[in-house]
Amino acid sequence: MIDQVAPNFQDCIQSLGLAQIQRHVFICADQTVPKCCDKADSLAAWDYLKRRLKELKLDQPTSDRPTCVFRTKANCLRVCQQGPILVVYPDGVWYHSATPEVIERIIQAHLLNNQIVKEYAFLVHPLPTHGTTATD
Ligand code: FES
Repeated sequence: MIDQVAPNFQDCIQSLGLAQIQRHVFICADQTVPKCCDKADSLAAWDYLKRRLKELKLDQPTSDRPTCVFRTKANCLRVCQQGPILVVYPDGVWYHSATPEVIERIIQAHLLNNQIVKEYAFLVHPLPTHGTTATD
């Protein structure tokens, strides 16, 4: 499937580590209509998440760890209360009040040690798998 895209597209896929993603973190930030927290607080949370994933080298596969954590600023995750709202896939763990302090706990406990931060998790719902196959 990867062979079917242009070389520069393949470079992008490789440099982002898309094929090595272990977890994908979405956070509502820089909202068009900030409802769950102040926009400035959401941007502080987003900046912290990005910085810490980079500092911990979780944002790229390494020779020691062949997987990575991808992060996406999601504008609004539609919960719209007690934000910033953050969700970790494929685990399907939804967190509220994702301030930098809480994000650090999520990184240390959940992302690095597979432990849900129960104090801030309000739902655990992994997405079902359907055994999807590729078509030509
Ligand atoms: S504004 Fe944060 S979830 Fe909607």
